[in-house]
Amino acid sequence: MNNKMWAGRSSKELDSRVNDFNSSISFDSRMYRQDIKGSIAHAEMLGDTGVIDKAESLKIIDGLKGILDDIESGRLPFNPEAEDIHMFVESELTKRLGDAGKRLHTARSRNDQVALDIRMYLKDEIREVIPMIKELIGVLCDIADSNLDTVMPGYTHLQRAQPITFAHHMMAYAQMLIRDIGRFEDTYKRMDKMPLGSGALASTTYPIDRRQVCSILGFDDITENSLDGVSDRDFCIELASAISILMMHLSRFSEEIILWSSWEFKFIELDDAYATGSSIMPQKKNPDVTELIRGKTGRVYGDLNTLLVMMKGTPLAYNKDMQEDKEAVFDAIDTVKLCLKTFIPMLSTMELYKDNMKNAAAKGFINATDCADYLVKKGLPFRDAYKITGTLVAYCIKNGTVLEKLGIDEFRSMSDKFDEDVYEAIKLETCVNMRNVEGGPAPESVKKQIKSARERIKDTNL
Ligand code: ARG
Repeated sequence: MNNKMWAGRSSKELDSRVNDFNSSISFDSRMYRQDIKGSIAHAEMLGDTGVIDKAESLKIIDGLKGILDDIESGRLPFNPEAEDIHMFVESELTKRLGDAGKRLHTARSRNDQVALDIRMYLKDEIREVIPMIKELIGVLCDIADSNLDTVMPGYTHLQRAQPITFAHHMMAYAQMLIRDIGRFEDTYKRMDKMPLGSGALASTTYPIDRRQVCSILGFDDITENSLDGVSDRDFCIELASAISILMMHLSRFSEEIILWSSWEFKFIELDDAYATGSSIMPQKKNPDVTELIRGKTGRVYGDLNTLLVMMKGTPLAYNKDMQEDKEAVFDAIDTVKLCLKTFIPMLSTMELYKDNMKNAAAKGFINATDCADYLVKKGLPFRDAYKITGTLVAYCIKNGTVLEKLGIDEFRSMSDKFDEDVYEAIKLETCVNMRNVEGGPAPESVKKQIKSARERIKDTNL
C-alpha cells in the first residue's frame, strides 16, 4: 500500500529509486521558514473566511509554530525520505495534530505553495545581497576618496591610453555596481506578487481571501492569473541574470586585480590574509580569491543557462521539470554571496603601489592626445596636430625618450606652434586635471561621482 500523502489512486508502494529521484527535500528544505510562514498565513485566512473552523485554524497555526521552533533548535531533523519540504511539514503537522493537520491543505496545491515559497525565499535573499553590494560600493568610495590624485594609466586594448586616477578607475566599478543594485531591485518588484490561491492551476472553488494572505505575507500584490501564478519561473531567470551580470563585473574586476598584482604590473599587493602560497615555489603569492571569482562566474552563467533551457519547452501549467529551478537559482545566489563576502575585505585591505602606477603612466606616451590637443588650442586642425604628435612619438621611440623630455628645439622642429608652455600642458597631472568635464578623471569630477554614489547607497528602496 502506498503510504504517500497523495496515495489513494495508487495501489503500489513507490519504487525506492523513484522516491529518491523525485525527492527535493535535500535542497528545498532550506525554504522551511518560508514554507511555514506561508502555511500560517494560509491557515489564518482559512479560519477567517470560515473555510475551516476558526479553532482548528488556531490549532494549526500553533502546530506550525511548534514545528518551526523544533526545526530551528535542531530537535526536528528533516526526513530524507520525504518528497519535499511541503510534504515534510504537512505530514509532521498531521502527526502532531491529527485531523486538524489534514485540513491545512484545503484550497491549496503544492504548485501554488512552491511558487509562493520560492518567491518568499528569493525576496529574502535579494534583501541580503543588496546591502552587500552597497558595502562594496562604500569600500570603493573610501579607496577613491584617498586616491583622487593617484595617477595611473588608463588602458584600451590593454595598451596604455590616457592618464586617469586610481579613484576614477574605482568609481567606474561603483557605477556598474549601482546598476546591479537597480537590477536586483527591479527583479524584486516583479517577483513581489503573491501566487497562493492559484491552486494546482485553476484556482479554487472555496471562498478564500487571497488579498488577506498577500497582506499577511507582506507582498506588494497578488498574481493575476492562476496558470501564470504557478507556472512561470521568469523571476528565477531574472534573478539569475542579475546575478550573472554582477558576477561579470566582479570577474572583470578580479581579472584586473590579478594583472595588477603580477610582477609585470605591481600596482597593488594583496594582504597576506587574502593570498595563497604555492606548495613548491617558495616565492609565490597567488591571487586565488580573484581567480576563483573569475571561475565561479562561469558556474553562475551555467545556472542561468540551466534555468533558461529548463523552462523553454514546458507547456502550461506546472511540470516537474520546474523542481530543477531551485538548485540552479540557489547555487547562483549562494555563489554570489560567497564571492562578495570574500571580495569586500580583500579589496579593503589591498595595498597600492602608487609609484609604480605613476611610473607606468609616465611611459607609453599616454600624454600624446594632450600634446595634440595643445596644438589644436594653438590653432592647428586636430588631424594635423595628431600627425605631428605621432611623428614626435615615433621620434621618441627611436631615441629612447618620452615627449616631456624633448628639448624645445626638437618640438619646434616639428611645428613652430610649440612653446615652453608645452611642458606644463603634457605633465601627467595636467592631463588628468584638465579632464574635468562631468564624468571625467579630474579630482573635482571624481569627488562628485563619489558623493552621488554615497547618496545612492544610502537609500533603502526595499
Ligand atoms: N517539490 C516540488 C517542486 O519543487 C513541489 C511541487 C510539486 N508539485 C507537483 N504537482 N508534484 O516543484
